[in-house]
Amino acid sequence: MSKESTRSPEADDPRFAAVILAAGRGTRMRSDLPKVLHSIGNLPMVGHVMRMVAALGADKTIIIVGHEAEQVRGAIRGLDAQAQTALQEPQLGTGHAVQQAVPMLGDDLDDVVVLFGDTPLIRPETIANMRQARRDGAGVVVLGFEPETPGRYGRLVTDVQTGALTQIVEAKDASEEQLAIRLCNGGVMCLDGRRLAGWLSQLSADNAAGEYYLTDLVAIAGAQGVPSAVVVCDEDEVQGVNNRAELSHAEETFQERARVAAMLGGATLQAPDTVYFSADTVLGRDVIVEPNVVFGPGVVVGDKVTIRAFSHLEGCALASHTQVGPYARLRPGAALEEGARVGNFVEIKNAAIGAGAKVNHLSYIGDAQVGARSNIGAGTITCNYDGYLKHQTQIGEDVFVGSNTSLIAPVTIGDRANIAAGSAISQDVAADALAFGRARQSQLPQRAADLRKALEKAKRDRKS
Ligand code: UD1
Ligand code: MG
Repeated sequence: MSKESTRSPEADDPRFAAVILAAGRGTRMRSDLPKVLHSIGNLPMVGHVMRMVAALGADKTIIIVGHEAEQVRGAIRGLDAQAQTALQEPQLGTGHAVQQAVPMLGDDLDDVVVLFGDTPLIRPETIANMRQARRDGAGVVVLGFEPETPGRYGRLVTDVQTGALTQIVEAKDASEEQLAIRLCNGGVMCLDGRRLAGWLSQLSADNAAGEYYLTDLVAIAGAQGVPSAVVVCDEDEVQGVNNRAELSHAEETFQERARVAAMLGGATLQAPDTVYFSADTVLGRDVIVEPNVVFGPGVVVGDKVTIRAFSHLEGCALASHTQVGPYARLRPGAALEEGARVGNFVEIKNAAIGAGAKVNHLSYIGDAQVGARSNIGAGTITCNYDGYLKHQTQIGEDVFVGSNTSLIAPVTIGDRANIAAGSAISQDVAADALAFGRARQSQLPQRAADLRKALEKAKRDRKS
């Protein structure tokens, strides 16, 4: 047996930390909300980056906050109670931002990956490639790309002889010759965690912007004989968000990826471009999604579920073999058990619909439990709110609720009960009982004919 195979994989894994820069102002968003808290797929941009590094198994994540620090910190805590933040005040550049993380990083990390909170679409594979380049001997790994318009991106300067990366020059500081370089800095860097603090201490703000540039680490490492490397990715991965137009473009990229992932995961999307996903949407196998469906945050869908056109779902769980819509609205706390059906113009909120139960037409079911196999007739409404408090409606198993019934909560309907159509039910109904909650129908024979004659005469008299 080889020596390697006797060691635990955990002990072998190089340790890494992620540092996410999120202190910048984001003026061009023209918003009271800090830039990194604007959402893509209903998850703040900084949350996308946090989620990606968590999935890669980061040993530590530190988010650098500055502008609107308290608001950003609060949101970050909501996303991940374990995430650490460091304050950068004032904001003196990307290198200065990473310096704020140094005391929290320690000196035993193999890799420190620096990312931007406003660049949410980096793929985990790309970070894995960058970390591999560290294993292959680079002290600094830069994420490069060839943008359509290099504009104000930093340019990656390579040695003409060896092709090795020697320097990153910010556009503001670049010569004409350097500005012609097509390979640009995407912003993400993977750095030797044991050397990082030393390198950062050598940064100076002697440049066009008067900032401490993180990008200077390439030249600083090079001066010590430590090589840098470039990992190249597509432009759509490194697209940053500076204004709302770029936000919508990033959203589009995210949605395209989510649709492809859903389809490759075994869901059929009949018109993928019309389906909107959230970052946390979970779909099972053999799910069919018809056109124009919106998945808000917190939706979990089991296997063999059909979601018909124009349905809007959020905060809900659909067990296998359930069917929803068309035109259904499932709000937070809706839970459909195996095989349940929710049909057109039905709204469900904070309610469990039992296995095989049906709510097929024009209903509102809120703060309720519907037992297995019960049938809720068209137009049934749970009157759950009295203007001050919410109340529960409990419906047992195998119950039949006739159409146009108001269930005035709090109210409990026993198993196998039958409620007559058009009832207003404000008192509990016992198991196996038949309940009427409406005026008894009465009938006057011939009275319609008499009435018609009288009215016709009244009309003739009026004209003459
Ligand atoms: C940076 C790179 C540039 C690269 C580009 C890619 C440097 C010096 N330049 O330029 O080479 O092509 O990204 O998009 O790194 N931030 C802080 N604190 C600060 C300054 C920035 O947290 O003091 C954050 C910002 O909020 C932002 C990120 O760091 O999320 C990048 O800063 P930004 O000012 O956009 O850098 P660029 O000029 O775009
Ligand atoms: Mg930028």
